[in-house]
Formats: sequence, structure tokens, C-alpha cells
Amino acid sequence: MKTVPFGTATAPAVIAGMMRIADKDDAHIRELYATAREAGIDFFDHADIYGGAMHRCEARFAEALALSPGERDEIVLQTKCGIVPTQGMFDFSYDHIVTQVEGSLAALRTDRIDVLLLHRPDALVEPDEVARAFDHLESSGKVRAFGVSNHTPSQIDLLRTAVRQPLIANQLQLSLTHAPIIAQPVAANIGGHDQSIVRDGGGIVDYCRLNGITVQAWSPFQSGTDAGVFLGSPEYAELNAVIDRLAAQYGVEPIAIATAWITRHPAGMQVVLGTTTPERVRDAAAGADVVLTRPEWYELFRAAGHLLP
Ligand SMILES: NC(=O)c1ccc[n+]([C@@H]2O[C@H](COP(=O)([O-])OP(=O)(O)OC[C@H]3O[C@@H](n4cnc5c(N)ncnc54)[C@H](OP(=O)(O)O)[C@@H]3O)[C@@H](O)[C@H]2O)c1
Repeated sequence: MKTVPFGTATAPAVIAGMMRIADKDDAHIRELYATAREAGIDFFDHADIYGGAMHRCEARFAEALALSPGERDEIVLQTKCGIVPTQGMFDFSYDHIVTQVEGSLAALRTDRIDVLLLHRPDALVEPDEVARAFDHLESSGKVRAFGVSNHTPSQIDLLRTAVRQPLIANQLQLSLTHAPIIAQPVAANIGGHDQSIVRDGGGIVDYCRLNGITVQAWSPFQSGTDAGVFLGSPEYAELNAVIDRLAAQYGVEPIAIATAWITRHPAGMQVVLGTTTPERVRDAAAGADVVLTRPEWYELFRAAGHLLP
């Protein structure tokens, strides 16, 4: 498994998201975990909200796996907080962040969170409160490293006015067919095109590269929000024809090519898988070791429908 820079260390280019495991039985979760580990994935992405009830997926993960302390030490556990579904709001207050981390620690049956991300930007964010929460969580040993998700460059800069710890990851929506963070800069300065519209605050991928922040691509096989998977979809016939041809050429499954399109990016991104099907985890992970050529990468970009001005 290819690795990418992650804070002061490295981490696998493909990681396993646990958002969809709530209704899976213990044996299924164990098989999913074992397959991921065999594929070189030792990094698991959670959030307090996953599973329909607070901490549900985190708890299912820990219950099903019952990891020994030694096994726990072998993996990276990342989780997120800041969304409050029951109240329809976001909350980066000191009390909320600290309370949610306590809940995640209990649900995950661990004494520390390796990486904590702020899930979605809180319009009412007070950087000093976030800083106080992070200082407490770091000094008490409850959280090792910090990052954000779905944040723009200026939102990160605002946090950095008070937060002392490096923000080492920004988890962003990215797939071949939902790629505004990559496609917009390609079409910069072009009038009359939807692709030219800035939706990420402007240059978020470059910002992350400049600041040593690892981009984590969520929903890597979804065509867009709530729109289903593009792999095998007749709506994306041209794209799938290119994917299938390259898959045959490289001797991998199509899902590996969709993964490789993201891992080929020189920013050193991580692909956050969401599948609960073990063989899809194995097949996708193989994509991290496929290095697409520049013409192949751009052919996929164009076949996905993005404008190349
Ligand atoms: N930071 C954020 O705001 C945010 C938002 C959403 C997600 N996430 C994270 O990102 C992870 C991935 O998100 P995601 O689940 O939406 O991503 P995904 O990997 O693009 O989608 C996985 C879903 O697609 C289904 N699927 C159907 N056909 C498939 C195929 N041929 N190949 C692969 N999957 C197929 C899977 O079903 P099966 O399970 O049956 O295989 C699963 O339900 C989540 O687990 C979570 O950790 C973060």
C-alpha cells in the first residue's frame, strides 16, 4: 500500500470509512476489518454521528472487534465531531467538542483518539473555544492530532489564529465525477461555465499542499451528493468505458482505477472508502499502487464530463 505524508508521519493512501456499518453483524464487521488490514489499511475513519444515533457506528466497530490493547496500538482511529443532528445545528463550542470526544472514547473503547476532525464548519465558531478544547484534549492525552473536514482556506486560517496544534487533515468530498476542488481551478478565469464557480473558498487543494494538510477524499465512488455510484452506471457510459479499458490494461478492477485517479494526484491524498463489501475494499486498495500516466489521468477527467478549457 502506497503511503502519503500525514502530519509528521505517513499513513496509507486508502483508508476505511465506517459510516455505513451500523446494521452489519459482528462477523461482517470483523471480515471487513480483516480484509482492510490484509490490504494494508490500518486507518479507520469514524464520526460521532455515524449510524443514526450518536456514537452508534463507533460502538459497533468496538463491540464487533473487541481489539486487545496491542491490536488497538496497530491502528489509527480517526473520528469527527461538531454536527448536532438532533438540534439541527453545528457546534464547535468547548463543551460540545470535549463532551463528544468523551463519548467517542467510550464508544470506541479506547483511551485516545489518534485524529480528531471538526466535521463541518460552524458558522458561530469561536477560535479561542476550539483552541481551549484542543489544548485540554491534547494535554489530557485524549486526542493525539487534529484536523478539519469540509473547510475552506479562510476557515482554516481563522481556526489557526488561536489553535496551536497543527491541523493535519482536511476531509473533502471528491470523486472522479464530483470534483469541484480539482476541476474548478482547471477552469479558472473562464466565463459562463458552472465549473468555474468557486465552491471551496478558492484553491483548497493548493492551500492544503502549501500548509502540509492531507486531503482525505470522502465518497470517492459517489457521482455526487445522494446520487449513487458512478461505477457501472449507464449515466456515465463514456467514463466507465475508459475505466474498464484501463482496468483491463493494469489488471485491476474498475474500482481500483477510480481510486487511482485520486491517489495519482501529487497532493498525496487519502481515499476514504465507504463500502461495507470486503472484496470492494481489497479491489479499491489495489488502486493505490496503480500510477496512472498524465494522459490517462486527463482522459478520465474529460470522460467524467469536466471541462478542459
Ligand atoms: N467528512 C464528511 O463530511 C463525510 C461525508 C460522508 C462520508 N464521509 C466518510 O467517507 C466514507 C466514504 O463515504 P461513502 O460511503 O459515501 O463513499 P463511497 O465509497 O463512494 O460509497 C460507498 C457506498 O456505495 C455503495 N456501492 C455500490 N456500488 C458500489 C461499487 N461498485 N463500488 C463501491 N461502492 C459501491 C456501497 O455499498 P456496499 O457497502 O454494499 O458495498 C456503499 O453504500 C464514509 O464511510 C465516511 O467515513 C465523510
